[in-house]
Amino acid sequence: MLNRRNFIRYSVATTGVTSLSSCAAPRHTITIDDRLPVGPFNADSTAEDVTNGIDLTGKVALVTGCTSGIGFETMRVLALRGAHVIGTGRTLEKAQSACAKIKGTTTAVALELSDLHSVVACANSVKDLNEPIDMLILNAGVGSYTKFGLINGIESIFHINYLGHFVLANHLLPLVESAEQGRIVHVGSRMGYMSVPDVGIDFDNLKGEKDYDSELAYGRSKLANALFSLELSKQLKSTRTTSNVIHPGFVKTNIARSAPAFMRIAFDMFGSVIAKTPAQGAATQSYVATSALLSTVSGAYFEDCNPVKIEGENYVFDEAMARKLWLLSEEMSEGFLI
Ligand SMILES: NC(=O)c1ccc[n+]([C@@H]2O[C@H](COP(=O)([O-])OP(=O)(O)OC[C@H]3O[C@@H](n4cnc5c(N)ncnc54)[C@H](OP(=O)(O)O)[C@@H]3O)[C@@H](O)[C@H]2O)c1
Repeated sequence: MLNRRNFIRYSVATTGVTSLSSCAAPRHTITIDDRLPVGPFNADSTAEDVTNGIDLTGKVALVTGCTSGIGFETMRVLALRGAHVIGTGRTLEKAQSACAKIKGTTTAVALELSDLHSVVACANSVKDLNEPIDMLILNAGVGSYTKFGLINGIESIFHINYLGHFVLANHLLPLVESAEQGRIVHVGSRMGYMSVPDVGIDFDNLKGEKDYDSELAYGRSKLANALFSLELSKQLKSTRTTSNVIHPGFVKTNIARSAPAFMRIAFDMFGSVIAKTPAQGAATQSYVATSALLSTVSGAYFEDCNPVKIEGENYVFDEAMARKLWLLSEEMSEGFLI
């Protein structure tokens, strides 16, 4: 039945809209982390607002998942500001079609994150361009209604949202490090702390050994994005390159595509009442990728265009878990890393 409860449940499952979702007290309190630079932007800001006056001529950005939603808008605005944007789509045709819709300099590349051969081929095509990468924006992803599946024996949401990006970023890291001040932006989600297994990453269930709950699987993949960012920031400490993770907000995009039909219809009809527009959804990642205020900020977590602290149980800043995940990811992607 199409009702408010199911719609809200969908919204929460996809993106984590605590305040709108339940009468229970939220388990997490989010506050701006004023130990880090705080900018003038907020949840209403758009990607155009946060990049206004920034000249990206001569800079190169790579945006994964440029064919839809937040990724498309991020590509459009970075190109508008003068960057050469390498936009990835699941096929070359899809990426080319997205690039053709916008003004500016773009290069379309195929990237299917469920196939590590495709990830390596994508990285090789980018390396062939022989340009430093100033902004590596790991944006592509599937939502929380993805049915259970295994890709090379690994749970599919984890593989698509996280492991594919782990392999891609490792291949492209030398190009990011060769930029004047390279930035890696991981697109995570609030679900990475609001809806994860009790233990955080349940390392004994990444191959589908135990029960499957698609909301927890999505949250786990987004926690993995955050932990990847954290460990990478540690490894990059003595370099100019930064690594940060962001939550774009609850955004009206195609992320609902795998939800049951009635929820998709509800999202289409009412999503704009409570969700951000893609222009607003693309703001936080565009801000973190470009703001002069953030040139030395690394290992931070951003929501609504500002660094935030999370109070309440979470694993987003768990360094031991981040290290363990990195080592396991190396094992899982054996043969596909450099
Ligand atoms: N929308 C929200 O409220 C929200 C909230 C929190 C976090 N996020 C995160 O924001 C990011 C962007 O999502 P969105 O809302 O813009 O959703 P979207 O409109 O569905 O866009 C997702 C993008 O990822 C691509 N993609 C999906 N599966 C892929 C795969 N196997 N290999 C390569 N690319 C793949 C899609 O390509 P195709 O179109 O060809 O499938 C599309 O370009 C995701 O990481 C999502 O988890 C979104």
